Amino acid sequence: MSVPNESDPAASLRAEAIDAMVAEALAAIAAADSTSALKDARLAHAGDRSPLALANRAIGAIPPADRKQAGQLLGAARGRVQKALAARTAEVEAAELTRVLAEEAVDVTLPVELHPAGAIHPITGLIDLMSDVFVGMGWEIAEGPELESEWLNFDALNIGADHPSRGETDTLFVEPVSNHLVMRTHTSPVQIRSLLERELPVYVVCPGKVYRADEYDATHLPVFHQIEGLAVDKGISMAHLRGTLDHFAQAMFGAGIRTRMRPHYFPFTEPSAEVDLQCFVCRGESVGNPDRPCRTCKSEGWIEWGGCGVVNPRVLRACGVDPDVYSGFAFGMGIDRTLMFRNNASDLRDFVEGDIRFSRMLKGVAR
Ligand code: DAH
Repeated sequence: MSVPNESDPAASLRAEAIDAMVAEALAAIAAADSTSALKDARLAHAGDRSPLALANRAIGAIPPADRKQAGQLLGAARGRVQKALAARTAEVEAAELTRVLAEEAVDVTLPVELHPAGAIHPITGLIDLMSDVFVGMGWEIAEGPELESEWLNFDALNIGADHPSRGETDTLFVEPVSNHLVMRTHTSPVQIRSLLERELPVYVVCPGKVYRADEYDATHLPVFHQIEGLAVDKGISMAHLRGTLDHFAQAMFGAGIRTRMRPHYFPFTEPSAEVDLQCFVCRGESVGNPDRPCRTCKSEGWIEWGGCGVVNPRVLRACGVDPDVYSGFAFGMGIDRTLMFRNNASDLRDFVEGDIRFSRMLKGVAR
């Protein structure tokens, strides 16, 4: 590499010397074939310690009369080197980009490995849908344990010690029996928990699992799901219950779908009723019309949906609520049953056997 002659500063400023420096610089730049090689060439030939930079410093040591010409020569030389650097940089970068694009190219025609996506279980989807209807009205979601005290599951709900549902044929008692724990047989104990734990007024729904000593077949599961509703406030009446159930029915089954109540008996409500849903498929058109039978309601026009009533004052009292000031309504329905008639699922065993095809088939239930 040409190195300025320190004992003769004018030597490095001669035209031939400068040309030699430029020629060397251009050769190094042309030979650089990567950004890192270009960086080295830039440092060696255009950096602070490059021959051209050192020659530039030597200008101060030559007679003033020669400085202008030397300055012009050097300026032009450095300009050529800078231009060559810029041009080569652009070339190298473009070449590198082309190489990277070629190396990293993705062949979109190659077969992909498919990872099977799961699906929300239809029961979970339906629970979300039902919960949304009530949250939309300002209600809260309440929860309770599945392993429940006998007192909350039965006594506080005014279900007497000799009530048939308390027998071992219906209820799963958990050992040791002296602990008086049962797998909850309905979601109604959450009514009691809500009244004991929350400030009045209370507006809650509780969806969840319940357990009964039942057979396992197409229409029975020992573990199934219910949704419980409870509203306790001043001046609550049966009319509020009717309005709420009608709204619930319409949100779930379509505008205009009605409900009807048939007198019934539940120990925790008085008066009590069973609530039926107008058939959302035939809307009653199939009744007495053999030409248009309806599978969903078996041409009865109505589908049994759940139980309901005005909260029994004894239940309010058991929870420390004054029945002369507050009143309430409650209702409860089976979620699995609702899914069966709402989505034409005929075998309850499909709900628990974990076959992803079942979940996929009913994927759209709640979304
Ligand atoms: N707990 C009842 C059952 O499991 C359902 C029920 C009926 C719930 C009436 C209620 C109600 O809240 O008011 O069969």
